Amino acid sequence: MKKPVIAIDGFSSTGKSSISKIIAKKLGIVHLDTGALYRGITWFALQNCVDENDNINLSELFKSFHLIELEFKKEDEELVLFLNHINIAKEIRSNEVSENVSLVAKQKEVRDFLLDAQRLIAKNGGVIMDGRDIGTVVLPDADFKFFLTASIDERTKRRYSELLSLKIEADETKVKENLIERDRIDSEREISPLRQAEDAIVIDNTNMTKSQTIESILQYLTKINNFY
Ligand code: DC
Repeated sequence: MKKPVIAIDGFSSTGKSSISKIIAKKLGIVHLDTGALYRGITWFALQNCVDENDNINLSELFKSFHLIELEFKKEDEELVLFLNHINIAKEIRSNEVSENVSLVAKQKEVRDFLLDAQRLIAKNGGVIMDGRDIGTVVLPDADFKFFLTASIDERTKRRYSELLSLKIEADETKVKENLIERDRIDSEREISPLRQAEDAIVIDNTNMTKSQTIESILQYLTKINNFY
């Protein structure tokens, strides 16, 4: 039996990635955090393509795509992102990357650069992919689509504790502002905006724990296809 393709989209800090990671383990499939790809490109741009004011020079970035090699390597059963053979798992969570990633992710050139690679990973099934446009653009034929949402205060709390656990300095008010601004840019951009696919199941997990959200998704998988 072909293993399923599951798309998980939603707002920042709704737990998409950590939830997808656990579901992937339970189902014995691969998890791809597509946000990490956009963050990786942003990190590269901040290192290599900035102007005299330290702003990202986008045309410089577009000219440098051929210098970027992105690779996910399995470490302790988890896929870790490497860029040009450097493990950038921690770097991509920095505030600097978070503050610039939406600007980079809204560029058509960047989205085109990453589209085929994402589709290729799902070609043979057995993948849960989380992002903003997975159910609408990257994998419109996914077997299952979910859209996660939660209140801004709850999402701020989650991102703030994530940063603290990664030992990254953070200010709660700034974290909230960044989430609001990112959601705005992600939702309003012209190409592949953050949007719920018409056939996606919406889960508002403001008052749900991570385990409850996982349980709810697994229940849908059972109900729809007797999969799990
Ligand atoms: O999931 P995340 O917060 O790590 O994603 C970082 C940014 O990348 C987010 O602000 C929007 C962008 N993104 C996107 O545009 N499309 C995706 N499929 C995944 C992420």
